[in-house]
Amino acid sequence: MMEKFMAWIDARFPATKMWEDHLSKYYAPKNFNFFYFFGSLALLVLVNQILTGIWLTMSFTPSAEEAFASVEYIMRDVEYGWIIRYLHSTGASAFFVVVYLHMFRGLLYGSYQKPRELVWIFGMLIYLCLMAEAFMGYLLPWGQMSYWGAQVIISLFGAIPVIGDDLTQWIRGDYLISGITLNRFFALHVIALPIVLLGLVVLHILALHEVGSNNPDGVDIKKNKDANGVPVDGIAFHPYYTVKDIVGVVVFLFVFCAVVFFFPEMGGYFLEKPNFEQANPFKTPEHIAPVWYFTPYYAILRAVPDKLLGVIAMGAAIAILFVLPWLDRSPVKSMRYKGWMSKVWLVIFCISFVILGVLGVLAPTPGRTLLSQICTALYFAYFILMPFYTRMEKTKPVPERVTG
Ligand code: HEM
Repeated sequence: MMEKFMAWIDARFPATKMWEDHLSKYYAPKNFNFFYFFGSLALLVLVNQILTGIWLTMSFTPSAEEAFASVEYIMRDVEYGWIIRYLHSTGASAFFVVVYLHMFRGLLYGSYQKPRELVWIFGMLIYLCLMAEAFMGYLLPWGQMSYWGAQVIISLFGAIPVIGDDLTQWIRGDYLISGITLNRFFALHVIALPIVLLGLVVLHILALHEVGSNNPDGVDIKKNKDANGVPVDGIAFHPYYTVKDIVGVVVFLFVFCAVVFFFPEMGGYFLEKPNFEQANPFKTPEHIAPVWYFTPYYAILRAVPDKLLGVIAMGAAIAILFVLPWLDRSPVKSMRYKGWMSKVWLVIFCISFVILGVLGVLAPTPGRTLLSQICTALYFAYFILMPFYTRMEKTKPVPERVTG
């Protein structure tokens, strides 16, 4: 019965072919480690955001008059509303934790290098889309930080010569942030950007499956195939990695649920304190800081004294990641076989990024501004000097087979 049914489907739709191409006959390197959990975890968080988002939308009212109260209504009166909201707000931060670790893995094992440039570029487009999605979502509860955070970021466009003022007005749809802005951000947050995000994730995975996954050794497993054309160092994604990924999912859910149930505000880092007060255009909060996942770029913006140059530096900090595949000239992919200069620069880059993240939360002082300038310089140096140190340094020989 089942076979006949599948044959009927397969004659009309490539169901079995897709299952085999992407799961049961997709051979992934057998040496995936901890860092390879984060792709599937990103998918899990994406599903969480979409599902909880749909349910939030059912009770949320996107108007300046009612948005704040409707979130309180969700928290207090809607059945299970509190858990849906906390799953969504914690999910936003979890998304960035997972995606940052996922990107770090790319840097560590040279996963962006040939032939995976497009996998990386689709990934970067996902990252941009995710930032826009998070930024617009943050305006929706219409709290003080929603309002003033959006005010700071949208006014940055005003630094662009000639068109700046018109552009900010066009984005807001009003002379100041108002219900009109809230309405358009709602439309973009709940429908436009999620569609783009989902489309990009499909392209990301299709591009990856076209060339095959990299691995912690950076060895091309397709070079060593058995008589059946199966890579000798490859294992079928299903059942081996589907089962392995479940371990990651369980551990992740333990941590995630602990946050949702016990620390949903995370000391003001996941849900900022001023956001428990309704937006008030006449009262600026004492200290405006974006949510933690934006703070490294915010610190770069503030490190540059000139507004326009600051905006350019902030944009460049993200844009330069797109060209990473062409900056790395190393003959090897993985950090395991690169020379000491690549290792030192990766450490410097990560430390600078974290310090910038911390500085972006704090109010500026002359000392902190100097430190953020140093970290900004180091952040860019990692990329700009990469073509040189990756070519100059002595690399270790890469083994023929994966080392396990
Ligand atoms: C919604 C966000 C994302 C989802 C759902 C996602 C999903 C995935 C999945 C399922 C894989 C295969 C499993 C794995 O290697 O972990 C993967 C691989 C990869 N992703 Fe992502 N990804 C996302 C964002 C990003 C971003 C922001 C980047 C970088 C800018 C990126 C770069 C890569 C690279 C380079 C690989 C290949 C890694 C390798 O083979 O070593 N991804 N992604």
